[in-house]
Amino acid sequence: MNLESILFSQGFGTRRQCRGLILDARVAVAGQPCADPLATFDTAGLVFSVDGSPWPFHTHAYLALNKPAGYECSRDPQHHLSVFHLLPPQFAARNVQCVGRLDQDTTGLLLLSDDGQFVHAFTSPKRKVPKVYVATTRHPLDETQLQALREGVLLHGEREPSAAVAAHARGEHELELSVLEGKYHQVKRMVAAAGNRVEALHRERIGGFALPEDLAPGAWKWLDAAALDALRNPG
Ligand code: URA
Repeated sequence: MNLESILFSQGFGTRRQCRGLILDARVAVAGQPCADPLATFDTAGLVFSVDGSPWPFHTHAYLALNKPAGYECSRDPQHHLSVFHLLPPQFAARNVQCVGRLDQDTTGLLLLSDDGQFVHAFTSPKRKVPKVYVATTRHPLDETQLQALREGVLLHGEREPSAAVAAHARGEHELELSVLEGKYHQVKRMVAAAGNRVEALHRERIGGFALPEDLAPGAWKWLDAAALDALRNPG
């Protein structure tokens, strides 16, 4: 692929802007400056840099973000900053989207991708991917609430009850809940329907992929093939 197309595909601006970056000698490939927009490179494992900042070529972007509270998943947020403020602008430019949404005040594992099939597969109600949340509850947890969550609670406006695939108390006010669907405010509504209230919510895991321990709140990382496998195979 030629260098202009490489930069364009990775979200470095319009074709004209990408060509400009190259002609202005701001781009290097594998450590060597390259000012020819038509120079071609094998993209497998390619790392180029713009103004000295390295960028690994990825045909598609698959990312994990440790979402802090106070960020909206929308690109066009109403009341808070967007999670896209936590990411390099190249990702918004290449149309990376959130894979399902977390509420503004929910923290933890958020996936993002520009692979439409991947986004669809993980957000489709047909594809039942378990998602593990930890909720801090206002009132002490008890067995009646946990059983209601496991057996299913009827949410306002729904015909069928929503059940957790697993629900147990990690502490008096700490609930671990695993759900398959991703309905609007699902966990908060389920906990409310079971007679308690969520004070704080954190997503720890999607499928077999847990939020990496070394990923600080607000930090993101590329997902490698092993992480993508873990996501698809909860194990
Ligand atoms: N359920 C909720 O209620 N909120 C989230 O952010 C995610 C799941």
